[in-house]
Amino acid sequence: MAKTISIAIDGPAGAGKSTIARRIAKELGCYYVDTGAIYRTVAYFMDLLGISPKDTDGVERYIDELTVQIEYDEEGLQHMIMNGMDVTADIRTQDISQKASLISAQPVVREVLLDMQREVARQHNVVMDGRDIGTVVLPDADVKIFLTASAEVRAKRRTDELLGKGQKADFQRILQEIQQRDYQDTHRAIAPLKMARDSIKVDTSELNIEQVVETIRNIVREKTAL
Ligand code: DC
Repeated sequence: MAKTISIAIDGPAGAGKSTIARRIAKELGCYYVDTGAIYRTVAYFMDLLGISPKDTDGVERYIDELTVQIEYDEEGLQHMIMNGMDVTADIRTQDISQKASLISAQPVVREVLLDMQREVARQHNVVMDGRDIGTVVLPDADVKIFLTASAEVRAKRRTDELLGKGQKADFQRILQEIQQRDYQDTHRAIAPLKMARDSIKVDTSELNIEQVVETIRNIVREKTAL
């Protein structure tokens, strides 16, 4: 099989990874893999069973009962299939965000998901976003980007996004949740969120989406034949 091209985009919650990664993948004709959605699916599954994301024994006992599949619709949007059921919309709550962050610290979860993520990248050209793609999942990725922004900017964007959808949003609470997830994601023992040595940092605090896409497009052009 010909060598595939991988672009890893890591960074904290709310830095705009998925919006940017999806755009770049579409432009380059690559698969977009949102790895956070896979952790969210595991968290959702355990939640339905009443297993706490901190309950190591419970998570270990039931993880084999779960089959996770990634599918793509005609628009290239990623769907998460949990034991045959499409849970794409169900995993996008604040509650599942927190639980996914906690469950992602469980070694058995990281182990099971590692092969799955590598397998997609082995078969297809991918833009993969997450926390440990450049450091652990695809250490040989052709391009590694670390996308970040201040916690305040990320909280403000999230608040505006919710208000824009006509939902309630409290900036202080959202900021607190983002800071808590940052802490959990950077302090866990296995594969914590950190910049790979050969990663290029892009701070989006002062940039709009077009500017970020342009910046990353240029980095990708420099490093690959895409
Ligand atoms: O990107 P996201 O917010 O959907 O991710 C949800 C949680 O999943 C995040 O807080 C930490 C975890 N995660 C991870 O540990 N490793 C990844 N590659 C992606 C996500």
